[in-house]
Amino acid sequence: MKDTLQIAIDGPVASGSSTTAAQLAEDLGITFFNTGAMYRALTLACLRQGVRPHEVRRVLEVLQKATITVEQPSHANGRMFIVRLNSEDVTPFIHAPGVSQAVPKIAAIPEVREVMVARQQAFVKGKSVVMEGRDIGLRVLPQADLKIYLTATLEERARRRLVQYQKKGIEKTLEEVLADIKDRDEQDMSRATDPLQKLPDAWELDTTNMNQEQVVETIKMELLLRLSQPGVSLIHLEERATILIARSGGTPSFRTVPGYEWATCLCVNEQVVHGIPTAYKLKDGDILTIDIGMVYKGLHTDTAWTKIVGSGNKEKEQFLNVGEQTLWKAIDQANMGNRIGDISQTIQTMIEMAGYSVVTALTGHGVGRQLHEAPQVPGILKGPPDSTPELVDGETLAIEVIYAQGHGDIVYGNDDGWTLATRDRSLSAVFEHTIAIGQKGPIILTKGE
Ligand code: C5P
Repeated sequence: MKDTLQIAIDGPVASGSSTTAAQLAEDLGITFFNTGAMYRALTLACLRQGVRPHEVRRVLEVLQKATITVEQPSHANGRMFIVRLNSEDVTPFIHAPGVSQAVPKIAAIPEVREVMVARQQAFVKGKSVVMEGRDIGLRVLPQADLKIYLTATLEERARRRLVQYQKKGIEKTLEEVLADIKDRDEQDMSRATDPLQKLPDAWELDTTNMNQEQVVETIKMELLLRLSQPGVSLIHLEERATILIARSGGTPSFRTVPGYEWATCLCVNEQVVHGIPTAYKLKDGDILTIDIGMVYKGLHTDTAWTKIVGSGNKEKEQFLNVGEQTLWKAIDQANMGNRIGDISQTIQTMIEMAGYSVVTALTGHGVGRQLHEAPQVPGILKGPPDSTPELVDGETLAIEVIYAQGHGDIVYGNDDGWTLATRDRSLSAVFEHTIAIGQKGPIILTKGE
């Protein structure tokens, strides 16, 4: 297994990719590289020398003579990075409106891109890095471990950009910002060389309804799932998870369970819950459930997801797809005035209609100051929904879809005293999110919608 981690983040202007990349890199303790800063520094150099974007030959001369470097964040002055042009710190000048307007034109020059991509590749060779730009997954890091296409609606991006302008005291109307962003999107997406695009192997994350923390946490869970490849041991995933939790400023929630010493529960194939991370190496076609919880500022969150390791088959894909869809539908029921029974009924109906079984001995639960709190959130309806607790404003629940391909009975899967498995050894999966009941509907705390 290689020991570098390279993450490519591409996305349209004001999608939050810089802030996300910087935060993620800091949490992971690896290098952050903002490639847009290089194009901006070159644009600044051109403008200072009176060279206009369409004067391609002169732009290239400026580029050949310019030494542009991007340095790591400096916490002392709160900047995400420092960009130097011929050793001058030009960071404060690269977001001037004139630069922002001209940069897409300069970045569209094929020869400029060729030089920039070569310089960027040389910089990150053999390094663990979160790299952010418009062509990272396509050109700069085509072999990245994780390619993310970060996006949000045009309106949301304009709103975020407007807030940034207001903080800097720059006066603009929402309409002006919208028009600006639309124009820059068009230039970045329609240029002939390396246009901004969502690549087929990129994971698209729409951040429209997410805050910054949710975006970064969602990426970390995805990272754990991506790291789960054939040949990787469960204990390696546990170690990575422990690091991710610590770097997020939290502590592992599951260690608050007396006797449980791990940050994750990792269950393979017929294992249902409470699987202990062992030296077992994942095999192609295994199905793996990662269940993870974090205590942050005294509050617990709990989330689980199941994936196929390596290549699966239609039957396994269908099995997991049903569980995921069931979780989304169950969360849709988590509204004030509804009852726990409405969630239970949705889970039971969807799982049973697909021909699978709910694992009835295990349930979702309240979560908050403790990992497990009242009420229980069963996956089956035992009486009329009206006889179950009503959902109230501000309540936080871990909704869990825990089910099996065959029968839902469970037994201890081995002699470790923790791992529970299906009695008939059929496959099992878990899809779980922590949600808060809000006035405007459920808020997913372990992933934005
Ligand atoms: O990310 P930022 O908005 O600072 O980037 C400025 C501009 O630089 C983008 O609008 C795009 O035109 C260009 N760019 C690019 N390729 C990259 C990074 C930025 O073309 N990898």
